[in-house]
Amino acid sequence: MTATPILSPRMSGIKASPASVLRRRARELRAAGRDIIELSSGNLDFPTPDHVIAAAHAAALRSETRYTDVDGTPELKRAVQAALLRDHRLDYRLDEIVITNGSTQALFNALLATLAPGDEVIVPAPYWAPYLDQVRLAGGTPVVVPCAQNNGFKLRAEDLQAAISPRTRWVVVNNPVNPSGALYSREDLSEIVTVLLRHPDIWVLADGVYEHIVFGGAPAPTLADIEPRLKPRTLTVSGLAKSYAMMGWRIGYAAGPSALISAMIAIQSETTSGASSISQAAAVAALDGAQDVLLARAAILRARRDRFVELVNECAGLSCTPPEGTFYLLAGCAGVIGKRTADGKVIASDRDFATYLLEKADLAVFPGEDLGLSPYVRISFANPSSIIEEAGMRLKRACEALQ
Ligand SMILES: Cc1ncc(COP(=O)(O)O)c(C=O)c1O
Repeated sequence: MTATPILSPRMSGIKASPASVLRRRARELRAAGRDIIELSSGNLDFPTPDHVIAAAHAAALRSETRYTDVDGTPELKRAVQAALLRDHRLDYRLDEIVITNGSTQALFNALLATLAPGDEVIVPAPYWAPYLDQVRLAGGTPVVVPCAQNNGFKLRAEDLQAAISPRTRWVVVNNPVNPSGALYSREDLSEIVTVLLRHPDIWVLADGVYEHIVFGGAPAPTLADIEPRLKPRTLTVSGLAKSYAMMGWRIGYAAGPSALISAMIAIQSETTSGASSISQAAAVAALDGAQDVLLARAAILRARRDRFVELVNECAGLSCTPPEGTFYLLAGCAGVIGKRTADGKVIASDRDFATYLLEKADLAVFPGEDLGLSPYVRISFANPSSIIEEAGMRLKRACEALQ
């Protein structure tokens, strides 16, 4: 007999996302021997750079295997401090920086530390889905603001203004944006600044986890740098996962006013006790070491992007424009909605389309419904060119087979 746990009311709005159902199905199919091409995950196919792995190994051999300071090792905090200065001209003291288990934990700790029931957090859509559940878990209410394709999927100042209420505590500004790949320029962000300066009680959650995965050279701009008057109410969040292909090492960080950072450290002290000592040593090597890997990898991703955009645009019913950052394409799939599969099923939504691609074309993509924008699918191009060619061929055949 299995007992049913009594869940906290805070779990009431939280359920396994439908995308995770698709992910499970992809795993099952793979386990059954199907050659599923993974285009739905947030993983990069690049290895973590060798010198970073060597640093982790050396740290383990030096017995850096004990708990570290809850807020991170002094070495990594100094490396983050230097990286923020180098990449964004942002000058933070060490007591304004915390190291976390991935940027996911930095975001969550900030929300948990600040939200009261009824407090609102503005999340531009399309979005990285965990923002919504993080806000709910922390007791707040997400307020989703759609960003139109004809504005490059970027938040318009007037839409931000219209979404603000007396309960607004935070605005999430992710740059570049997962899943659209939109990149806010300094000018774009200045428009958001103008609105925020009119609302001195609203804080900014600036998520730059893809800041180095951009195709124009310089790292994506961030709000605390663009407008110093916002810095005292901005939490600048980033991590090593995407920039240095260190997804599994789980190192993120946040920089902001020390009172907020202290509250986040207090939460971290009671929950994880801090990030892994070995991963922190690796992260120091990544941040302090040669940075040419960032541009070299962005150039590879750019070539893959260009090819995959071409392939997607050859598919009947799909269209996409080249993203300026991240490693995702957001493909509009309005042209396949309403069509029928060979076995007579109607594709009524982007989730149906993603399910069809998984079951019949061995392609795992992410449905836009779970990203706050339909009908779209998010397709990763973090795959070697040969896989991209094969994926493009399967996609084309699958679209042609729809009637
Ligand atoms: C927009 C965005 N923010 C934050 C994260 C979390 O990254 P991590 O916790 O691996 O640093 C992700 C991961 O995919 C993301 O897409």
